[in-house]
Amino acid sequence: MNGRRVIAVGGSMTFPPEVARALGAAPDAVSWLPSIASAQRAMADGQERFDVVVLAPSVTDDEAIALADFAARESPATAVVLVRDTPVDGAFPRLIRGGVRDVVDLTKGRSEFPDALRRALDRTSVMRGSANGNNGSHGSTGTIVSIFSTKGGTGKTFLACNLAAALADRSGSRVALVDLDHDLGDVFAYFRAEPSRTLVEVATLEEGADSEAIAGLGTPLVSGVVGFGSRPDPRAEPLRGAAVARILNALREAFAFTIVDATSEYSDHVLAALDLSDVVCLVSGLDAIGVRHMSIAMHTLANLGVPRDRLRFVINRADSKVDLTVEDIERLIGIRVDGRIPSSPLVAQSINRGRLLWLDQRRSDVAKGIQVFADRLRSSVAPDQVVSTKRRLWARGS
Ligand SMILES: Nc1ncnc2c1ncn2[C@@H]1O[C@H](COP(=O)(O)OP(=O)(O)OP(=O)(O)O)[C@@H](O)[C@H]1O
Ligand SMILES: [Mg+2]
Repeated sequence: MNGRRVIAVGGSMTFPPEVARALGAAPDAVSWLPSIASAQRAMADGQERFDVVVLAPSVTDDEAIALADFAARESPATAVVLVRDTPVDGAFPRLIRGGVRDVVDLTKGRSEFPDALRRALDRTSVMRGSANGNNGSHGSTGTIVSIFSTKGGTGKTFLACNLAAALADRSGSRVALVDLDHDLGDVFAYFRAEPSRTLVEVATLEEGADSEAIAGLGTPLVSGVVGFGSRPDPRAEPLRGAAVARILNALREAFAFTIVDATSEYSDHVLAALDLSDVVCLVSGLDAIGVRHMSIAMHTLANLGVPRDRLRFVINRADSKVDLTVEDIERLIGIRVDGRIPSSPLVAQSINRGRLLWLDQRRSDVAKGIQVFADRLRSSVAPDQVVSTKRRLWARGS
């Protein structure tokens, strides 16, 4: 095991030697903690640094998710692997959404067990490599841009879709477009498409999977743009922060840009996306309520630890004659607006035609506004960004 720390949690004293056998290590190479609570105590405040925590079949799904969540906050590089001796079936997506790295189903044979542990150990070394600033083992990484506003209907989805296409066009690189709305996201509707897989499937990808395997889990939308999302399901639980972080880190390896439609709420999974983003783009219309939301979001994000230089500001429907100008907004809340997109009936028209405005109305003022913002964005971000090691937003003591 070369000094890697694997700990067995739960079950009886026969469980750790079983884990050691799967690792091909001596029976006493794996230590044991009797319960989730004792594992949390050991990990609290970085007291113990485990590479992989292996949970016995006696640990419940809820306990496993609680520990994965705890590990994501206290020790993000630690992988949690759950062992089951009864069929896992429908519980698997929920566990992966909850941040569990892998579930070993012993009813399918024992050969899965060593493979799952090896993958988990590989993942930890990639994560620790990133945290040490050497950016893991996969060469260069792309830029993650989240589009966010706490006010609904400001044009986030419209901007995310068209910005993705514009960046693909202008940079000649492949762009991922992610819909974080798990219940009624409309990113795919802009392209009259449906996600072919769910985001959860990206979360289950093996660490170090090659770019083509990652891109292959998405749905090609328009030239250079690959979409990632889940079919609308009001009953679906949102992904946990740890799972979103895993998805975005995988996409970052495979795409020059990853554009995230980050919805309008500070939920756990959205905070994970904002935390990993190189750029957070705040969107507002030319109305006092939208601008108030933008101003409060600016301060909230600062309190959450998002550096000010990562923020960009886009005013949508910026030409509306409403007694408030872009310059007023700049002065009132002390920002410099990075993108101005005019209002136009062409937006609704292109949606109704099921054609992306960027492609359908390339010469329109709306497309020009998007182009200027896309070019400004490209020139302001370094091509090779190292994964941030700053405090995780979704670790806000919840
Ligand atoms: N520049 C524009 N000109 C005209 N209509 C626009 C413009 N931008 C967006 N719209 C329209 O405004 C509506 C809201 O846009 P969109 O769905 O992108 O907002 P959103 O911020 O994603 O909303 P939600 O918070 O509900 O997810 C859509 O019908 C869209 O077509
Ligand atoms: Mg939207």
